[in-house]
Parts: sequence; C-alpha cells; structure tokens
Amino acid sequence: MADTKKLLFLPGDGIGPEVMAEVRRVIDWMAKNRSISFDIVEGLVGGCAYDDCGEAISDETMADAMAVDAVLLGAVGGPKWADVPFDKRPEAGLLRLRKEMDLFANLRPAVVFDALADASSLKLEIVQGMDIMIVRELTGGVYFGEPRGIETLADGTRRGINTQVYTTPEIHRVARIAFELAKKRGNRVASAEKCNVMESGLLWREEVTHIHETEFPEVELSHILADNCAMQLVRNPKQFDVIVTDNLFGDILSDEASMATGSLGMLPSASLGAEDENGNRKALYEPVHGSAPDIAGQGAANPLATILSFAMMLRYSFDMGADAELIEQAVQNVLGGGLRTADIMQEGKARVSTSVMGETIVAELGKLAG
Ligand code: IPM
Ligand code: MG
Repeated sequence: MADTKKLLFLPGDGIGPEVMAEVRRVIDWMAKNRSISFDIVEGLVGGCAYDDCGEAISDETMADAMAVDAVLLGAVGGPKWADVPFDKRPEAGLLRLRKEMDLFANLRPAVVFDALADASSLKLEIVQGMDIMIVRELTGGVYFGEPRGIETLADGTRRGINTQVYTTPEIHRVARIAFELAKKRGNRVASAEKCNVMESGLLWREEVTHIHETEFPEVELSHILADNCAMQLVRNPKQFDVIVTDNLFGDILSDEASMATGSLGMLPSASLGAEDENGNRKALYEPVHGSAPDIAGQGAANPLATILSFAMMLRYSFDMGADAELIEQAVQNVLGGGLRTADIMQEGKARVSTSVMGETIVAELGKLAG
C-alpha cells in the first residue's frame, strides 16, 4: 500500500493558479512512479478568498490547513484589493496561516543555478556557486508584536505603532533549526540582528550564543549586524552558508539574496512548525515570488519556484530527499538545455510558456528516473 499524504492546495491570486497547475503534473508523476500517493484538497486564500467570503482565508480553509500533512501555496495579492480593509487584505491570509499553524521557521534557499549565473545583477564571479540558506523567524517580531495600531493624538496628529518583541523560546527554537541545517551543509551560521540599537537584538545575540555553546559547539557561529549583512550579501555573498535572523530583517535580506541569484521566479521556500510527538511538523511551502498580476493569465509565469517548493516538501515533510534532488536535477537539466520562461529569458535561449516548462520538467524526470 502506498503511503498517502494529505495536501492542501492554495493557488491564491494572480499567477498562483497557473504555477500550481504545473506542480500538479510533477505531483502526479511522483504518485505514479513512487510508492506514495497524494490526497489533495483545494482552498482559497488571499484576494480570491476575500471576494468569495469577505475574509482573506475562511475558518474552514484554516481548519483544513491544520489537518493536512502539508500546504502548498501559490501567491496572494494584487491591485484589485488595494482598498480592502487592512485586516482583510490578501496578505492577512498568509499571516494567519503562519501564525495559527505556528510556522516559526522560514527556510529560504538562495541558490544560483549555473545556467542562470550571468542573469544576476551582480558580477558572475561574485555569484557563481552561491548557495545560501536564510532561516527567517516567521511568527514573532514586529510582524505580530503588541501594541500595534494607528492612533489619533489630542492635537489631531496621528501616531503609528508596531512593537519588536522576542522571547527566549522564540529565539531558541529558530536558532536550533539554523544550526541543524548548517550541520548538513557548510557547518556555518551567521546570526543577523541590530544589537547595537535594539534590546531585542541584544537578546537575540545572547540567546543564539547560548544555544550554540550548549547544543551546537561544533558549528561555526558568527554574529553580524543586519545592515552589514545586507552590504555583505552584495559584496561577497559566498561567504555565507546559513543566515538566521528575525522576521523583518529576514523579509528584507531574503529579497536581497534572491535578487542576487538572478531570478525571483526560481526560488522556493518552506515554513515549518515544531515537531510533534510523532516527528511530524506542520508545514507550508510556497514560491518566494509574488502574484505578478501584470502577467497573470498569459502563460508567462515561471513555475519552477513552485515545483522546487514541492521538492522542499518532499525533503522536509516526507523525508524523500533523493526524490527532492531528482526534481532539482531535472530543473538544472532543463535550464541547461536552454529552455526559459519570460522572466529568465536570455539571448539565444528558447522561450517557453508556463505549461511547456511544466511538461518538460516531467519529461526530464522520466529520463532521469530512466
Ligand atoms: C514574504 C512577503 C510577506 C511578508 C507579505 C506578502 C506579507 O513579503 O513572504 O516575504 O512580508 O512576510
Ligand atoms: Mg517579503
């Protein structure tokens, strides 16, 4: 009997449904060729959910997300919902998923594919071979800290408030994920904060140091101020192996690192919760790119980030590392063969649609598995 995994599909807005249609082909291939099967339910998140029920995600869909083995999400947002109230905007659906599933560790690999190294805005020799794993804390910090809000003062002027707050358990659990990952990679962690200005940053530095000394002394740890980290990411990104940082700095540094790789359309992510007593984690996988409403519905979207997000699901949720590598190899080969979606198009290469890219990946999987 094949092991059946329950998945929740949340295509979302813009190009989300198009890229999710391509990952389905890859999932079907896995189900046909491996002793695993997938039971997929679909739901709405983002602007499409707001149009449907007036919320960025319904309680029913939230309950599905809590019950499945893993969630795969396309993208949320678009200009259509620019005037929707703040707490119902498309992004609120994503934030609710992160918070209620307690997905505290966001893994954002920034890897330069050989075939695309010259597409980076940085010089080829600076990025070639770059392979960074950013571990962003995802359920704390200024994104969720209280008090927050906008208030009107007695003199009629207004004040906007957000609170940066971290506790030791929040820092410890994300630090452990970073050290564990480093052990399987280059064995180095750089922890980024602003301890020169922020108490929460000082606590971050002290508590990461504590976890390092007591649990992972064999891993090399360095501390870096977040602004310096931003600078080093464009100066010499290959100095980094794993970067661990808070929610807001992680948001910014991961965008920066992804741009250095040459295409946002290539980058996957995993958001993980704590292990339960059976060793399972709640998990959500999604491409780092957004909903790209300007190109939605044209067959111009790059499905590779979503396909690579599914590979991360195989690795981190289902312990199928070899099959994850197979998908990653198929992506490398197809790029090496010269196929490109519009976002990564280069002179002399063949421009293909979203669906042709998906079909070609599946064909390549067949060849590799031979
Ligand atoms: C991200 C995005 C989100 C964030 C938005 C869409 C709420 O930028 O996943 O990086 O700020 O976390
Ligand atoms: Mg972001």
